[in-house]
Amino acid sequence: MNPLQLLRWEHRWRPHLLQLPPLLTIGLYSSLRPLLWKLLSRGDPGATAWTPPEHFHRRCWGIGFRFPLFNAAGMFKYGEGYEYAYAQGAGAYVVGTTTGLPRRGRRYGVVRQPFLPLPRSGAALNALGLPNDGHLATARRIARLPRYPDFPIIASLAPDGELPQDEALRLLLQGLHAYCDAGVDLLELNESCPNIPHDPRWEALLYRLHWVAEHFLARRPRAIPVLVKLGLDLPVERLLQMLELLPELGYDGIVLGNTSTAYEVLLPQIAPSERRAYNAFWQRIGGGVSGRPLRPLRQELLRQARTWLQLHPPQREFHLVAVGGIATPQELAAALSGGAALAQWMTGYFEVLARELLSPYAYMSTALVQDP
Ligand SMILES: Cc1cc2nc3c(=O)[nH]c(=O)nc-3n(C[C@H](O)[C@H](O)[C@H](O)COP(=O)(O)O)c2cc1C
Repeated sequence: MNPLQLLRWEHRWRPHLLQLPPLLTIGLYSSLRPLLWKLLSRGDPGATAWTPPEHFHRRCWGIGFRFPLFNAAGMFKYGEGYEYAYAQGAGAYVVGTTTGLPRRGRRYGVVRQPFLPLPRSGAALNALGLPNDGHLATARRIARLPRYPDFPIIASLAPDGELPQDEALRLLLQGLHAYCDAGVDLLELNESCPNIPHDPRWEALLYRLHWVAEHFLARRPRAIPVLVKLGLDLPVERLLQMLELLPELGYDGIVLGNTSTAYEVLLPQIAPSERRAYNAFWQRIGGGVSGRPLRPLRQELLRQARTWLQLHPPQREFHLVAVGGIATPQELAAALSGGAALAQWMTGYFEVLARELLSPYAYMSTALVQDP
């Protein structure tokens, strides 16, 4: 059985596996997920290969994207799967999130990198804790990759929350330069991971954003766009503040957004048969919710952001990138017509890969055909 067949077989059985005691399901999926993904992303995409036709191409910040959808940060944490993503027709390749120091990820008892899929809800919970090899090692790997036209590489970076602020920012700056030197096309600052310790104060975020603007954006070695990834739990007023501040500071866009920790607010969107496992996960481990339950949050923030940007057009080219709950061609079309220039996906990608027999990107293109 090849890894794709294994994924499809597992996908069929997934709702039944969710009926096991919650900790057993969490343990099972936390070990199965990285293994299966490693096998898949190293393999031949076979029937899931696809080349996006020319009319799907987009240009943002002067950079060509062969398709408006690509993986969200966290899918290829180590710089793996580049050829696989290209062969399937992804519009770009996002590596990371990486941190200054390598991380092995979180542990809950014997469970490493806790993860739980919720198939009936089209959702997942993860508390992986940003496992990665560090900015420098990953940038070295990226520098060796072959390059393809209109298939940009985006590096996602986060500050090391455990370190004193000065040290964390120094390592972040080192990482930004390392990825620039490695030939990366865009940079994404992950300012919204719920799974690592961080200073949650608004002032701390503002300080980091100003610091990066002064030490990197103002003197960037080349015109490389820098995006900020924010969480979908962000209150609208804060988002509007960001929309005003970020272009002024020299940032080029916002990625909207990351996983949510509004567990109880999202509970009604979790299928009744999956609530026991859902509650067990967040009450014991925490983590972030991804997938279908994020759609209303993402779409509403996008709507607010688009309206604000229409009323206050920034002085520089500034784009929104939609992430959260994109799993159908119609959802992709809605995100793109709702204010986003580009989109990313994670939970929906695996769902589509396991269910459809063609490339997940070819499948997602079907609602875009009328509206290239
Ligand atoms: C297993 C897993 C790992 C993730 N790792 C990262 C990460 O390293 N960096 C990051 O910015 N977001 C990470 N995310 C969040 C995703 O990039 C994305 O923002 C979120 O899952 C919402 O998109 P989705 O609904 O399409 O999954 C992760 C999500 C999942 C499910």
